[in-house]
Amino acid sequence: MTGKRRQLRLGAFLYPTGHHIAAWRHPLAQADAGSNFSHYVELAQIAEAAKFDLIFMADGVGTRGADTEALHRTAIRYVAQFEPITLLPAVAAVTQNIGFVATASTSFNEPYHIARKFASLDHISGGRAGWNLVTSSSDHEAHNFGRDEHYAHAERYERAEEFADVVRGLWDTWGEDAFPRNKQSGVYYDPDKQHILNPKGKYFKVRGPLNVARAPQGHPVLVQAGSSEPGRELAARTAEVVFTAHQTIGDAKAFYSDLKGRLAKYGRDRDDLKIMPGIFPVVGRTQQEAEEKFAQIQDLIHPAVGLSLLNGMSGGVDLSQYPIDGPVPDLPETNGSKSRQKLLFDLARRENLTIRQLYLRIAGARGHWQIVGTPVQIADLMEEWFRAGAADGFNVMPPQLPTGLYDFVEHVLPEMRHRGLFRSEYQGRTLRENLGLKVPEHPARHAVAAE
Ligand SMILES: Cc1cc2nc3c(=O)[nH]c(=O)nc-3n(C[C@H](O)[C@H](O)[C@H](O)COP(=O)(O)O)c2cc1C
Repeated sequence: MTGKRRQLRLGAFLYPTGHHIAAWRHPLAQADAGSNFSHYVELAQIAEAAKFDLIFMADGVGTRGADTEALHRTAIRYVAQFEPITLLPAVAAVTQNIGFVATASTSFNEPYHIARKFASLDHISGGRAGWNLVTSSSDHEAHNFGRDEHYAHAERYERAEEFADVVRGLWDTWGEDAFPRNKQSGVYYDPDKQHILNPKGKYFKVRGPLNVARAPQGHPVLVQAGSSEPGRELAARTAEVVFTAHQTIGDAKAFYSDLKGRLAKYGRDRDDLKIMPGIFPVVGRTQQEAEEKFAQIQDLIHPAVGLSLLNGMSGGVDLSQYPIDGPVPDLPETNGSKSRQKLLFDLARRENLTIRQLYLRIAGARGHWQIVGTPVQIADLMEEWFRAGAADGFNVMPPQLPTGLYDFVEHVLPEMRHRGLFRSEYQGRTLRENLGLKVPEHPARHAVAAE
């Protein structure tokens, strides 16, 4: 490490009304948040004034769940919200520094579309774009793309591997100075600086060239959020930021060292990939105030919504036929997200929870790390994880918006700054610079160097 003190990275992970499943019902919630552009401008501007590295928009290409009894009582199962790559360029126009990470699925897109949109967002925002590459986990999304069910877990990762390579290849279409746009000579671009792909994949045949110039960051930042075995391999080979969910410092440390340990075989340094677990903070001036705040929002959960949350997170396991106040039964593996399923059932076993207790336990953070406490307690725990090698930073998941983000910024961040753990000013111009990530070299440079 250089003499400079290591500081943590922060993302503001935004769900429209906040992360708690009943957030939209809170008296201070912006209930129409998913369709309210000014709401997102306000959030981005709060996060930027607080010097967050990025805002992160999760997404699904369809509502999650077909159970109307539950769906009509919830605002966060992608029921009504903006598509991120459409929303973020508009927010870029009213901000200067904050980065934008948008989710897009490799299962229900074509690589050319994704390469083009993110390269465009990178230009429009002046180098502040990141792509959260997900494979998607629900059949409900598959139903919107001509399929009766989702691809099998292994297949969607095989497709994702190839998808990521095609997108990165397309982002390398143009050398940095490929566009002289010389009005005298009449040369708009230099054909020697255009690189065409070799269209030979199993899933995709893409020739290029990409019809967007090289992105200001070289490549938009590549983010990944799957934690299964193939998810980790894909991240180790391609990702620069990994979002992840852990309940305990032990699990977070094990994940951190496992993933960082995989980088060397791909010729990468440990610092080339930043690991940012989610944290769901309920902030109170006293412990009692924090607990009362949390209880107020927990009381707003309808049991049907709680059960459907478990159904979604366990990859389609239906617990409604079991007694709600009885133990969580042993359940079969499904085709859904492996890591989240495991996390859920490990938690139920560890804490000996009933079905109702399990959904109450995860209704806020959905498997992420939840802290209900004072600013000092929250800062202590974040510092502990950071110093112990469990995290390079955190994805902050406000319980409700906008108030939960204000709480974190006004009460927890001053404590983090006081400890020298978080910046007071942006150091860089681009998302990549702020995160401390290298600019990818254009492959043509390697070719020249090797000759
Ligand atoms: C912090 C975080 C954010 C995620 N955001 C999304 C998302 O926006 N859309 C999505 O379809 N999946 C999202 N996921 C799910 C993962 O990307 C991944 O597809 C899922 O965990 C299944 O992969 P796995 O079996 O490798 O864990 C997210 C996961 C985490 C931990």
